[in-house]
Amino acid sequence: MPEIESHDVDVVVIGAGGAGLRAAIEAKARGLRVALVCKSLLGKAHTVMAEGGAAAALGNVYPEDNWQVHFRDTMRGGKMLNNWRMAQLHAQEAPDRIRELEEWGALFDRTKDGLILQRDFGGHRYARLAHIGDRTGLELIRTLQQKAVADGVEVFMELKVLRLLHDDSGAVAGLVGYWRPSGSFVSFTTKAVVLATGGVGKSWKYTSNSWESTGDGHAMAVWAGADMIDMEAVQFHPTGMVWPLSVRGILVTEGVRGDGGVLRNAEGRRFMFDYIPPMFAAETADSEEEADKWYADHSAGRRPPELLPRDEVARSINSEVKAGRGSPHGGVFLDIASRRSAEDIRRRLPSMYHQFKELAGVDITVEAMEVGPTCHYIMGGVRVDADTTATTVPGLFAAGEVAGGMHGSNRLGGNSLSDLLVFGRRAGMGAADYVEGRSGSASVDRAAMEEVVRAATAPFERESGENPYDVQHDLQETMQSLVGIIRTGSELEEAMGKLEELEERAANVAVAGGPQYNPGWNLATDLPSMLTVSRCTTQGAIHRTESRGGHTRDDYPAPDAELGKVNFVQRVPAGGARSGGAVGTPSIRSITITPEPLPVMPDELQALFDEEAH
Ligand code: FUM
Repeated sequence: MPEIESHDVDVVVIGAGGAGLRAAIEAKARGLRVALVCKSLLGKAHTVMAEGGAAAALGNVYPEDNWQVHFRDTMRGGKMLNNWRMAQLHAQEAPDRIRELEEWGALFDRTKDGLILQRDFGGHRYARLAHIGDRTGLELIRTLQQKAVADGVEVFMELKVLRLLHDDSGAVAGLVGYWRPSGSFVSFTTKAVVLATGGVGKSWKYTSNSWESTGDGHAMAVWAGADMIDMEAVQFHPTGMVWPLSVRGILVTEGVRGDGGVLRNAEGRRFMFDYIPPMFAAETADSEEEADKWYADHSAGRRPPELLPRDEVARSINSEVKAGRGSPHGGVFLDIASRRSAEDIRRRLPSMYHQFKELAGVDITVEAMEVGPTCHYIMGGVRVDADTTATTVPGLFAAGEVAGGMHGSNRLGGNSLSDLLVFGRRAGMGAADYVEGRSGSASVDRAAMEEVVRAATAPFERESGENPYDVQHDLQETMQSLVGIIRTGSELEEAMGKLEELEERAANVAVAGGPQYNPGWNLATDLPSMLTVSRCTTQGAIHRTESRGGHTRDDYPAPDAELGKVNFVQRVPAGGARSGGAVGTPSIRSITITPEPLPVMPDELQALFDEEAH
């Protein structure tokens, strides 16, 4: 058995994107020993892919904006499947979190009066996104990282966590993983763990997500026995690059449309006017003249259909391509060149300008971009208590993309950066309160740890076996073609069968060489997470026999009022994946799914929707 280096702290935060950094800062401020663990280098997180801004009702551009309108937009964008309390806290607290970030050194773009400038994004009634050009996520990470390090948070980079460990009472008490550079194993005992591991996009072929997004936190929560909700709700961002193939999926910020960019099909037609859903008809311009007037005087009147919520825009692009009106490489055209001056484009969208110039040889100040949907975000995730972010497993907290509920079945652009600030902070507080309320020290079972290490190193012991890259490739093909933007029952069942085969293949992968800097082995240890989340998404998609937000069933094209009142909750029954304290590669076949009623919204919040109807 290899040596296992050990650490003992009060709180381990897994993931160093915005939510993890914000949680670590908060827990550290309470005087606790905090370890911030990340699989990649510090500063490299999917947070940077939220380019266009952080949504917060600051009211700097439109004084009439307020938390109630933001709350209502968020709930409607999520097709009312959101946890109302999370959406309320988010809308109420986002402005303070943005101002706090400014105090910590974030350099936001400014209005003429020196206030934080806010831009338009889909589904937001008012220009609401605080931004730094099209590099908002990057600046957010930079600011938080500087603060966390200055405050003394201890950072463990390039450390892949394999499993959570728990004590006899079932509470989380530690974790085990390995250093990616050396391959040597490492464990932590801790009273609390905050999952802030981000998303799951790498299980799809075309995604804005980078290699880290393999759903590790989602999977570890499932294996630890936590409740998961609405895992079928996956967001396909309408605009990813489609060409050249090597960069397909890379994000093209919604800020392009927020700043006036329009979508056209191969016939040059602004097709979004053909896809305005009844729910948004009253507030959406139905002619080019009206839409352009809105762009010109930036009034808060009826907004262009290019700024409908993401699920609507992504589906419309998909339909245009299917109808044979797509661009040469299977997308549509996004045109900002004919709408804003070259100087404006380079100033407001510098990353997009460089991205297209460098990667596609396209000058976006002159030509239109080719874009199409790309897997970007999962709305479903670990069920948490809104106020504390506590999961259903004692000692386990979750914030940011790994947590479910906040965004319902579709997230509005810009709401993720503010989500991770609001709930990152709350996770830090929730974990700190929990730790302070516990006596004694945490302890984990050495045998359980060794079992995890044995399973992780098994691919080195096999003389022959599957190549992990082949399994990953087939998984991505399966999820892209059968559990993509438009789904049907028969394809989902087919995907389920393929996932079972892939699970068997993943249990039999072999890798050559040693554990140091071995990407094949690293992938072999990611596959169990990828398969677990893929199964959860597919199972959820089979059960949600309706179309709602990011989840579209071709065989159930309409929303179902009854299903709109439930979360689909998935869990491993006690004694399943958790048996024995921890196991190497738990079988995911035991995951159950049941509909459970959504939390009931109080009357005063419900009244906001009634007022709107009048
Ligand atoms: O389009 C974007 O800039 C992405 C933002 C987000 O996902 O919130």
